[in-house]
Amino acid sequence: MDQLIVKGGNPLHGSVRISGAKNSGLPILISALLSDKPLRVKNIPHLQDVTTTLDLLGRLGASVELDESMIVEVSTRDVNNFRATYEIVETMRASILVLGPLLARFGRAQVSMPGGCAIGSRPIGLHIEGLRALGASIDVEGGYIQASAGRLRGAHIFMDTISVTGTENLMMAATLAQGTTVIENAAQEPEVIDLANCLNGMGAKIEGAGTNKVMIEGVDYLSENSHTIIADRIEAGTYLAAGAVTGGDVTVRDVQPENMVAVMDKLNDAGAQITLGSDWVRLDMRGNRPKCVNIRTAPYPGFPTDMQAQMLMMNCVASGSGSITETIFENRFQHVQELQRMGANISMNGSTATVAGVKALQGARVTATDLRASACLALAGLVATSETVIHKIHHIDRGYNCIEEKLSQLGARISRIHVNGNISHSSNLAQSA
Ligand code: EPU
Repeated sequence: MDQLIVKGGNPLHGSVRISGAKNSGLPILISALLSDKPLRVKNIPHLQDVTTTLDLLGRLGASVELDESMIVEVSTRDVNNFRATYEIVETMRASILVLGPLLARFGRAQVSMPGGCAIGSRPIGLHIEGLRALGASIDVEGGYIQASAGRLRGAHIFMDTISVTGTENLMMAATLAQGTTVIENAAQEPEVIDLANCLNGMGAKIEGAGTNKVMIEGVDYLSENSHTIIADRIEAGTYLAAGAVTGGDVTVRDVQPENMVAVMDKLNDAGAQITLGSDWVRLDMRGNRPKCVNIRTAPYPGFPTDMQAQMLMMNCVASGSGSITETIFENRFQHVQELQRMGANISMNGSTATVAGVKALQGARVTATDLRASACLALAGLVATSETVIHKIHHIDRGYNCIEEKLSQLGARISRIHVNGNISHSSNLAQSA
């Protein structure tokens, strides 16, 4: 099990390139299932969840090629297996995204039911109900969603709750349905737009992606395409937050600033000077301590739940006090107990955390419980007075490409330790110290 070792105290300075968005990359790779022609995807991040997705596609019978410039080509011409097994879905819930495409193109799919996860119960009823509305027969047997259909038929679908992957699954399925599908109360996330752009490049007819009403006119066939995925706005926000907590000056490059407005606003409220260009954002704290902010998470364009942990962490060392309310997932505060062990002053009341900032945190051994919680613990380590050791960092590798290299590049003292039994060896602490 790898661990991250962080020595705090250095304000971060410099610029860092942001990788492609995980939450665009996963559905877009899976959308290759909709066509027997290849899909080339550029700007794919090097992440564990991408590896899992490619493994899943391979098990279904797809062929995957990766060239030197990290362009992934997926061909699903020879897909001959329609089952996403428990062992894959258990490691990555986004595997549920194969359900719509497999049904739409092959008329059958078996996908293990995802259980709850560390951040909440995460039901998938909206995926199932929406596919039923498109004409699929779906039962749950032996822990598996067993789905079959003739050609799907367009339908008018109102989603009771805004769901990102729910919208994506139904949008993908509807591209090959007969007739027109309207998805109301659709998720408006930039990743939904990115997927729609990729599908339209394959020949789909989707309008309205990025609004709460998406219209899809079904076509008979989707063809080949080459698509470059957007930047990861959550990775970008995490590095800006790292700049803010350390009183630093950090620029994120190769991003779409228009997708990061809610996060930039809150960082601005925290006292950061934010400047931006067409593909970069710079945060300069001018050496100052941040001020606490109040945040309420919401579906896009609201404040993203995936940045909640990092901003809560910022409040822990900011001046004043602030409240953070999580409205999307019922259990996404597991980082609070770890931050309290580092000396943070946080009180919980239901889904609201009230934080009174302290001047510094103390390093400790802490445990990562999920992807964004682990990023927040890395940020906490950057401002702790002594060494922080973060356990279970496999969570961080699901969504952050080379986090220790990128933070080191900005001047952080952070390294990964490979622990084999009792033997540990440091990879780059000496170099970055
Ligand atoms: N929901 C339902 N029924 C459903 C589906 C969702 O009630 O059938 C509820 C959920 O319980 C939750 C809310 O709807 O309360 C929103 O969940 P959503 O379905 O939008 O989440 P998701 O699609 O499973 C994606 C991201 C998450 C991100 C959320 C919210 C991907 C692969 N995952 O999950 O990303 O937190 O949207 O923005 O796109 C992460 O990257 O760390 C991460 C967890």
